[in-house]
Amino acid sequence: MHCHIIPHVDDGADNMEEAIKMLKLEYEEGVRHIIATPHFRFNMFETPLEKVQEQFLALKSEALHIGEEGIDLHLGCEFHVNMNMAEMLREKRVLTMAGSRYVLTEFSGAAPQSQIRERLYSLISSGYKPIIAHVERCAKLRSDMNFVEEMVEMGARIQVNAESIMGKEGFGTKRFCFKLMKSDLLHFVGTDSHGSSYRVPKMKDAYLSVAKKIGEEYAEQIFIDNPARMIKK
Ligand SMILES: [Fe+2]
Repeated sequence: MHCHIIPHVDDGADNMEEAIKMLKLEYEEGVRHIIATPHFRFNMFETPLEKVQEQFLALKSEALHIGEEGIDLHLGCEFHVNMNMAEMLREKRVLTMAGSRYVLTEFSGAAPQSQIRERLYSLISSGYKPIIAHVERCAKLRSDMNFVEEMVEMGARIQVNAESIMGKEGFGTKRFCFKLMKSDLLHFVGTDSHGSSYRVPKMKDAYLSVAKKIGEEYAEQIFIDNPARMIKK
């Protein structure tokens, strides 16, 4: 539910071959549904939606032929926060997650609490369900569990990267991820994969690690049940 697998639309997959390679890796990991989330960020990633959709449809038809069962590909967006998010979503200039009310929101690592609270509140009050992308990178959330709790109580959802759970971003980050789980403040895990060699799409180890340390039920909730809600029509 967080990856940059669509070619030629952001800094993710360089081309169709790379994207197909990523799909094959995902399939081997047991993944059968993917919500692709190309970046939208002013002055950095403003790929026209028509181009995103065109590339998405091309990859979607490839995905159906991966492995025996195929992969069902959906379209979303990693939306870097700004002042007009609700309006842009309403006007369909930026996409929600697979047509649901969920919105994957990205904050800069140094975003202050007041900005985080304000942006999330404006989405929630407009009827959206914001998911904070890779929360472990946001200093003001990472250092203050009470603030994370406050945001969740307000209606925000929390996502971490699979590699962070596996300790690839250091022990402190891994510890923070498990602290979130123990406090029941984690809702989604994504790969945030940008290619087949950098931040590779590896979900299985993260799933097994959560199942072992926190429990099978919790692992199913954050890896399967919660994301499935976004693609149920
Ligand atoms: Fe991302």
